[in-house]
Amino acid sequence: MDGGVRMMKDKAKVAVLVSGGGTNLQAIIDAVKGGKIKSGYVDVVISNKAGAYALERAGAAGIDGVVVSKKELGSQEAFEDAIMREIDGRGIDLIVLAGFMAILSERFTSRYAGRIINVHPSLIPSFCGAGFYGLRVHEAALARGVKVTGATVHFVNEVPDGGPIIAQRAVYVEDGDTPEVLQRRVMEQAEWIILPEAVEKICAAIVGGEM
Ligand code: GAR
Repeated sequence: MDGGVRMMKDKAKVAVLVSGGGTNLQAIIDAVKGGKIKSGYVDVVISNKAGAYALERAGAAGIDGVVVSKKELGSQEAFEDAIMREIDGRGIDLIVLAGFMAILSERFTSRYAGRIINVHPSLIPSFCGAGFYGLRVHEAALARGVKVTGATVHFVNEVPDGGPIIAQRAVYVEDGDTPEVLQRRVMEQAEWIILPEAVEKICAAIVGGEM
């Protein structure tokens, strides 16, 4: 016992879930190194793809990388159980989906309610939900002809891209944009800024005992 005073951690433990290149993971790693994230640190990177470059980034930063393959585990339940074992076994405080392209069921999201966030490359509620991920989001934005797009960080619940919004940042579409060019601009001008900011904000709330 500690005399009635709850012992608090000084830093929140973060798990980052990835599937691909991991530029958003890199933005978080850099923000921890540079001191912009001071209330948390990345304890583990979990990838659902064995060859994901994000795992190289984790390794280069001295962070544990774990592969959890739904194909090998055989079912959604076994896949989520394997992720839960990592999360619970390590005492993770915050789960960050950073380009994680697998669906998580309500069984998973409700277990960690208010402790999972996601970055999405549009201004929700535009171009989001089932089928809108990665480059497809930017293809849809260009096809619709919007002049402003951006990125959103939100809490994750059972509705794809439907949880409460934490942060958004707008980015202009420019004449001649291709999906690739627009994707890069949205990352540089929005995602890599608002995701680390949101991670710090939530980690600070966790270590401060506010959530
Ligand atoms: C990012 O643009 C991220 O917002 C998006 O995938 C990309 C991953 O890039 N996520 C989604 O579309 C999720 N619905 P990264 O691996 O370089 O961070």
